[in-house]
Formats: sequence, structure tokens, C-alpha cells
Amino acid sequence: MLLTNAKLATMDGAEGYGLIEDGAVALEDGRIAWAGAMTELPERFGDGPVRDLGGRLVTPGLIDCHTHVVSGGNRAREFEMRLEGASYEEIARAGGGILSTVRATRAADEDLLLAQALPRVDALLAEGVTVIEVKSGYGLDTDTELRMLRAARRIAEERPVRVLTTFLGAHAVPPEHSDDPDAYIDEVCIPALRAAHAEGLVDAVDGFCEGIAFQPDQIARVFEVAHTLDLPVKLHAEQLSNLGGATLAARHGALSADHIEYLDAEGVAEMARAGTTAVILPGAFYTLRETQAPPIAMLRAHGVPMALATDANPGSSPLTSLLLTMNMACTLFRMTPTEALAGVTGNAARALGLKDCGRIAPGLRADLAVWDAEHPAELSYRIGFNPLHQRIFGGET
Ligand code: NIG
Ligand code: FE
Repeated sequence: MLLTNAKLATMDGAEGYGLIEDGAVALEDGRIAWAGAMTELPERFGDGPVRDLGGRLVTPGLIDCHTHVVSGGNRAREFEMRLEGASYEEIARAGGGILSTVRATRAADEDLLLAQALPRVDALLAEGVTVIEVKSGYGLDTDTELRMLRAARRIAEERPVRVLTTFLGAHAVPPEHSDDPDAYIDEVCIPALRAAHAEGLVDAVDGFCEGIAFQPDQIARVFEVAHTLDLPVKLHAEQLSNLGGATLAARHGALSADHIEYLDAEGVAEMARAGTTAVILPGAFYTLRETQAPPIAMLRAHGVPMALATDANPGSSPLTSLLLTMNMACTLFRMTPTEALAGVTGNAARALGLKDCGRIAPGLRADLAVWDAEHPAELSYRIGFNPLHQRIFGGET
């Protein structure tokens, strides 16, 4: 299959969109065989079926590298409470917040968790997403953590999308261990991680390092076990305060540190040194009406790769639009539209440790998005408008 008459934003190259006007992409066996200017098309790609894209924009398929789309129930009532003046932390300390989703998730069977996740996934796919990451973390007991991960894996059987699963047992202290978080880590979280890994359910390990969640030494114990299982790590860090989570993550060679509104210069330097990607989550910042923005200029100056994700979850970010996420990152955080697109393509792949997607380049998976747009900045500029023309997943439309 040859795609012709396309404007390519290859996202392949040191910086910028890697734009190719009047471009073509040759797809073979689910991979990109060739991409470039039509005038330079090698002869051997001219023989097969051709699809004329009418000058449309083609980008890599979008990647949502941080989601909690598998979860029970919803938290619309907490949304009302916050509007009445309660803070996210107050609600969490009063047994709501993550723990209210834990109750609903524990009560849901695997089929229900899957059924509730699929409409959220569909919303993402409708905007050209071809890869999603899905976290556990609303079970906080072995059975429910594993059930969440099984439901997450099944998303890829039900929909044309690639799913990476992340074990997030260290997300909150469950009520039955409220007086002993250390016992929860050692007696529940770590054994659950081992069990999930043994069942092939874990691609990476995450935690929530925060006053209302876990301290750095507790997260470090989980990371040590992840290392022995050869699993990459990442961390919810510096979202509401600075406990040095990003530094901890970087020193453990983390793929990413996520949220990072309260990240300081030391954390940025450690991330730069370790090659840890910054995952920026404007949906949570917006929903919680945070006022401290992540240190974008400092991350940029240190060359820390920046990814963007929805953080789709029932509490702090009930958001299932990567296009709106891109717009928010530009408007709220002054990221450029180029950075926003890199954030949901190449840098999102990097945050997941994936080398076979996120760019339009020979040898990579044929995961593409075709847009009714003239320029890639349009993807960040519009609000609540979806210009997707077609999604191509592994070469299939
Ligand atoms: O990424 N920060 C911690 N965890 C989620 C929120 C989960 C929730 O409120 O349910 C997040 O924002
Ligand atoms: Fe999150």
C-alpha cells in the first residue's frame, strides 16, 4: 500500500515536525517501508495499491502514555464538593478520592471493568490514538490489582490498539492498612507485583510519591523489586508537593517522572542526567485548579524530553482527549504546538520505552493518523474539534 499526496509530519529528526510537503509513505507487512518526498519515491513502491490522501496531513499515530482508563464508578459528586470549596487532598484524607474509586473497582468484575473502560478507549481512538498505557492502582489488593490488569490487556483484544500495562500498587494506602503503609508495601503491594508479573500482566511499575500516598523510601522498595524482575519504572512525582520523587525516579533509571508541577532545579538536572522523560499532565492541573505549572522552560533548557498524556482517571483528570491535552499544554503551560505533537508521539513512545513507534520512519510500525488539516499546529490550536480523517493501525485502516 502506498499513501500519496500527503503532507507528512514525520516527527523524525532532532527538532521540529520533520515536515515533508507532497510526501508519500509505503506500508509493507504492518510496517513503514519508506517515507519521503513523492519525487524521491523508489521505483519498487510504485506497483502496489495507491491511496491518494488529497493533500491531507499525516502524523504518527498518537500515543497516550499515562492513563487510568480501567477503574470502577465515577467521582462526579467529588467534582461538586470541590466546587463547594473542598480540596482534592481534603477529600482524599476523608476517605474519598482514590479510595472511593478503590471501593467501586473492588466491587466490579473483570467484564464490567472492561466494559466501562471501552468507551473511554473509543474516545481516545477517535482522535487517532494507536497506543495507550493503562495503570492498575485502584485495587490495592492482589485480586483487584490483577483483575484491573487483565481487563487492561483485554482492551487490545476488543479494539485495534496497542496496550501497555503498568502496575501501580503503590497508588494509595488502602483502608485496611491505613495505620501501617509500610506493611501494605511489603505484605501486599510487592507480593501483588510479583503475582502480576508471574502472570505476564506487567510492562512497567509506577507509584505515587506524595504526602497523601507514599514516601520515597517506600517507593524505593517497590522499585528495587521491579529491578529484580527486569521491569522499567516510572513515578507520579511532585504533583502536589516536592518530596524529591523525580530525583528518586531518575536515580532508579526511570522511563518517566509524571505530573512534576513542583519539580525543582535539582530534579530537572537528575532527570536530564538519567534520560528520564517528563510526562506533563495538564488535565489534572486544570481539573484541580492548580496554580503552580511544571517548570517547562527549565526542562526545555536542560533538554529533558517532554511527553503529554491525558492521565484519564475518574478523579483528578476525567479527560479522554489527547487533542484537548495538547491545547491545554500550549495555553496553560506555554508549550509550543511542535512540543505538544512531539509529546504525544515520539516523546510519548520514549516514556513507554518503545522504539518501534512515535515517528514516521522506515522499519517502524505503520501506526498513523491522517488529518483534515493543513498544518500540524492546527492539532493544538482548536478546542473541542476533531479533524481526524482516518487512523491506520499496523497498516490496517
Ligand atoms: O494521576 N496522582 C495520583 N493518581 C491519579 C489520580 C487518581 C485519582 O484521583 O483517582 C493522577 O492524578
Ligand atoms: Fe496518574
